[in-house]
Amino acid sequence: MQIAYSEAAERNKHPILEKLQPLLATCKSVLEIGSGTGQHAVYFAHAIPHLKWQPTELPENLPQLCAQCRQYPSDNLAAPIALDINDVQWPATQPDAVFSANILHIIHWPLVCRFFVQVGKLLPKNGICCTYGPFNLNGRYTSESNAQFDNWLKCRDPESGIRDLADLRCQAEKCGLLLQEDDQMPANNRMIVWRKFSPVEPE
Ligand SMILES: C[S@@+](CC[C@H](N)C(=O)[O-])C[C@H]1O[C@@H](n2cnc3c(N)ncnc32)[C@H](O)[C@@H]1O
Repeated sequence: MQIAYSEAAERNKHPILEKLQPLLATCKSVLEIGSGTGQHAVYFAHAIPHLKWQPTELPENLPQLCAQCRQYPSDNLAAPIALDINDVQWPATQPDAVFSANILHIIHWPLVCRFFVQVGKLLPKNGICCTYGPFNLNGRYTSESNAQFDNWLKCRDPESGIRDLADLRCQAEKCGLLLQEDDQMPANNRMIVWRKFSPVEPE
């Protein structure tokens, strides 16, 4: 099988890695949602060897992801598994971190809500969830190119589109995930970091 290739993933993988390295420094195991071509998974697993990296994809897209992971193996890169955000039961993994790039503007809003519900259930206290992609702030696009991209997305699928950080925050908080960081990234993207809420234990 020919190895799938994404120009965008190739461009953004290093800036994302630099952002993830300190965030995941004390984590042990990452579940990646919607790994796509697998370029991120193989690059990050190789660069952060202390982490177990678990790539996932929709069942129909698994063969291309598996081919990439076979081509560029690492001891800490797990064999890709099927995961549809819509699944009632997610695979039995016990990650302390979740990473997902360029998904929340692709899936429909009810699925975005499901993403946070499932991640909130999956992560242990203080677990971290890193979501990368284009996001709106205060109801506004952060660039003209993002406005054009959103228009393109909605022509293709009216239920998709760039999400507003305030809407995501509201949904995430219902699922026990607090906004920890919102970092600007190249090409008008952002890394939004969520932390599983850990109530202070009474002494
Ligand atoms: C724009 S691509 C991003 C791929 C990769 N994360 C990247 O940044 O290059 C969106 C990905 O979301 C996956 N996807 C779409 N719907 C999904 C769902 N319901 N559950 C899991 N993944 C989904 C698609 O298969 C696709 O690989």
